[in-house]
Amino acid sequence: MSLFHFKSILSIFFLLAGLIAVICMLTLMGRAERKISAVFLRRMHKGAGVVFAILLLMISYFCIKYVAMIGDKLSLRAVFHGVLALGLIIVLALKLSIVGFYKQFLRYVPGLGMTVFALAFVVFCTSAGFFFLSTSQKPPEPEKQPSAVSPEGDAQLGEALFDNNCSFCHYADRFYTKIGPGLKEILKKEKLPVSKKPATPENVREQLLNPYKNMPSFESSLSEEEIKNLLAYLKTF
Ligand code: HEC
Repeated sequence: MSLFHFKSILSIFFLLAGLIAVICMLTLMGRAERKISAVFLRRMHKGAGVVFAILLLMISYFCIKYVAMIGDKLSLRAVFHGVLALGLIIVLALKLSIVGFYKQFLRYVPGLGMTVFALAFVVFCTSAGFFFLSTSQKPPEPEKQPSAVSPEGDAQLGEALFDNNCSFCHYADRFYTKIGPGLKEILKKEKLPVSKKPATPENVREQLLNPYKNMPSFESSLSEEEIKNLLAYLKTF
């Protein structure tokens, strides 16, 4: 399982914990007749809140690790996601400090709590939601054209392969990072962007079969012929 997958699955539990905390508080504050005791609801709210905060810290740790890995070439979406997440942490800290110390502002706490949950939802959508949506749509198999097997590979077939297998995470024609690094001039530079191995076709092939870190392996889905075509396509930039 990739770091992305793991982080995205964690974030589902993160959102669930937030939802439980919100529902407990709403039930506690909003319903005159309750079947569940106030003590229990308050405990549930606290428990879910603790789980929420722990998951938030864990996910933040993975995000920071990821940013450290790819350097400062973040996509616009990732920056937006990060800024919102930071806002979430600040509002949550504010809420907790009011509950703990500044009790004269207690009347703002429900509003802050709802803001935390709303932010959590948007933060989830801009990363994990995006990830699940784009990976759940399996691209259709490219139509195989009978092409003479050339040692050089066919860049045109490579383009279709790239669109179906790589374009979710990489630009072929830009240096800009999507989820993986931009692949423009990948075979013209001296070193590969992340592993810093020499930028040879052999090492790119190796990356597809045994990825350096978080990229999924294409060992079982791409044939040697298809890898050649992909390399031919990447060479055109
Ligand atoms: C789910 C996202 C994802 C997909 C799909 C993906 N990659 Fe990657 N790619 C990454 C990440 C993340 C990295 C950073 C290095 C790592 O984690 O292995 C990367 C790194 C690379 C590198 C640089 C490796 C290095 O040593 O610096 C190359 C080349 C590459 N990918 C090519 C491809 C090609 C070609 C495809 C399509 C067959 C592809 N990738 C599909 C996420 C992806």
